[in-house]
Amino acid sequence: MTNFTSPAIEARDLRKQFAGGAAVEDVSFPVSSGRVVGLLGPNGAGKTTTIRMLLGLVAPDSGTALIHGNPYAELTDPLSVVGAVLDAGGLHPGRSGRQHLRVAAAQARVGAGRVDKVLAEVDLTAAADRPISGYSLGMRQRIAIATALLGAPRILVLDEPANGLDPAGMRWLRQRIRAFADGGGAVLLSSHVLSDVSQIADDIVIMQAGRVVADLPLADALDANDGDLERFYLELTGAGSAVR
Ligand SMILES: Nc1ncnc2c1ncn2[C@@H]1O[C@H](COP(=O)(O)OP(=O)(O)OP(=O)(O)O)[C@@H](O)[C@H]1O
Ligand SMILES: [Mg+2]
Repeated sequence: MTNFTSPAIEARDLRKQFAGGAAVEDVSFPVSSGRVVGLLGPNGAGKTTTIRMLLGLVAPDSGTALIHGNPYAELTDPLSVVGAVLDAGGLHPGRSGRQHLRVAAAQARVGAGRVDKVLAEVDLTAAADRPISGYSLGMRQRIAIATALLGAPRILVLDEPANGLDPAGMRWLRQRIRAFADGGGAVLLSSHVLSDVSQIADDIVIMQAGRVVADLPLADALDANDGDLERFYLELTGAGSAVR
């Protein structure tokens, strides 16, 4: 049952170990409705593993991953609750954007009428009938986001959504994410690019070597560091000496 008094997303003491060692240790943070939370950290920090645990794709060794107070696996209609973009690859190149969305809608048991709506939401109506093989990276990202929106979720989880986007694509993404959160949606997005996140996020969670090393409103991070978020980030992630 959906519990609206709980945060939209909550990681509680998540831990995951792979053969190579601990990937995620004691990771806790909430994502509330109306907020955009940027999950930051260098390559290998544990961002994707954390996101995969929140979406029930990786079982934590300990801790809990909750969506409105319930594990993802217990949601009765998960695609109408959480939309996720994990990897914009894996799109069938011979299909058109519209065909891809129709297949995804059928798989998600979402009415085909949603296809035209989400195409419009990501501004891809004009290109909808062209094969995906001719799409730019930015258009592929939009199709991936459209797929996540099919179930009209109020929570979006985006792993590295800015990868490969040009400045116009970034601005588009920023505006869409802002509008989604301003409409009461909750967004968790990851990036290893500080500038991408600092233009979108309300709150930042910084991970380093599997652990959360900072979790605070973006404005507080800026205030406490004379606006120099990069220095703060590099110091926390242990790369500060490299830029001195
Ligand atoms: N399936 C797996 N098997 C073994 N090790 C894994 C697996 N998935 C992740 N890891 C390891 O866990 C650690 C965290 O990886 P993860 O992909 O979560 O980091 P990330 O923060 O998403 O990095 P990036 O910015 O490169 O995407 C890394 O050391 C990685 O090699
Ligand atoms: Mg990753």
